[in-house]
Amino acid sequence: MITLAVTGKGGVGKTSIAAGLARTFARKGLRVIALDMDPSPNLWYSLGCGIAGQPGTIIPLISRKDFIEERTGAPPGASGMVFRINPKVNDVLEMFGVSCRDGVRLLVLGAIRTGGGGCYCPANTLARRLVSHLSGEADLLVMDMEAGVEHLGRGTTRSAQALMVIVEPGLKSVETAFQIAKMAKELGIPRIFGVINKLRPGDDPGLIAKRLAEAGVITIFAFPYDPAMEVTDRTGVPVIDLTEGEKMKARLLELAEVIEKHMLVPGSSLAEKERPDSRD
Ligand SMILES: Nc1ncnc2c1ncn2[C@@H]1O[C@H](COP(=O)(O)OP(=O)(O)OP(=O)(O)O)[C@@H](O)[C@H]1O
Ligand SMILES: [Mg+2]
Repeated sequence: MITLAVTGKGGVGKTSIAAGLARTFARKGLRVIALDMDPSPNLWYSLGCGIAGQPGTIIPLISRKDFIEERTGAPPGASGMVFRINPKVNDVLEMFGVSCRDGVRLLVLGAIRTGGGGCYCPANTLARRLVSHLSGEADLLVMDMEAGVEHLGRGTTRSAQALMVIVEPGLKSVETAFQIAKMAKELGIPRIFGVINKLRPGDDPGLIAKRLAEAGVITIFAFPYDPAMEVTDRTGVPVIDLTEGEKMKARLLELAEVIEKHMLVPGSSLAEKERPDSRD
């Protein structure tokens, strides 16, 4: 099984690509779990899950204080308290998981806020245990991360076997990608892929790839700017379910195949035997 964390600056297309890949791999027959790690979760929308019309009801698991306390024995903001380091997690997907198209299952986990909020160790421990448990329940775990670099400090990101950094043409996005990649490398995340998104005529993907290469990242794919995404934004229909989205669908399939090739261990499949370790 593979855990893939999708990262990058705000608005570059992390959620769109994470959702598109989750659906594409599911169509290829893989058991896919998608995790929304953004404190403002909207992955359900891009995945096409059966909760349309009630986005306000999606409370990230990490924000459910009672639940964290019930499982760990300590409230998420408590500092200096003793808490369970092996909370029960094997029923969480069943309790909070949402069914989405193509059989993708979604769990809205959210992000742990640490800035000045006291010790968030119980929530962090629960999230890490959960990600580790879920990785045994699926062939592919796709994590849609919060924008920026902050999530790299968390065990959930560090347990990823591959990190995909999305970058759009533009200095800020490229620099954020560079920082993410550098930190991910220092943390020992085994594979870091670069994916360029929203490429327009005149943009030079080579320049972006060159900058990312300085941080040890191989750029594996580039998506052009596609107006079908605007239709998705307007209608709420996931791009791969739109007739206008045929090109995007084909590109997502291509990207999925490139990822498979990169993740392949000889004689194995994407569901390689490698298990996430407990780096933290
Ligand atoms: N290839 C593309 N062509 C055109 N528009 C795109 C493309 N990819 C994504 N977009 C658009 O860019 C916007 C941001 O996409 P998305 O929400 O996936 O980004 P994000 O990185 O997850 O953002 P956030 O940081 O807010 O979570 C959306 O309007 C989406 O439709
Ligand atoms: Mg997003």
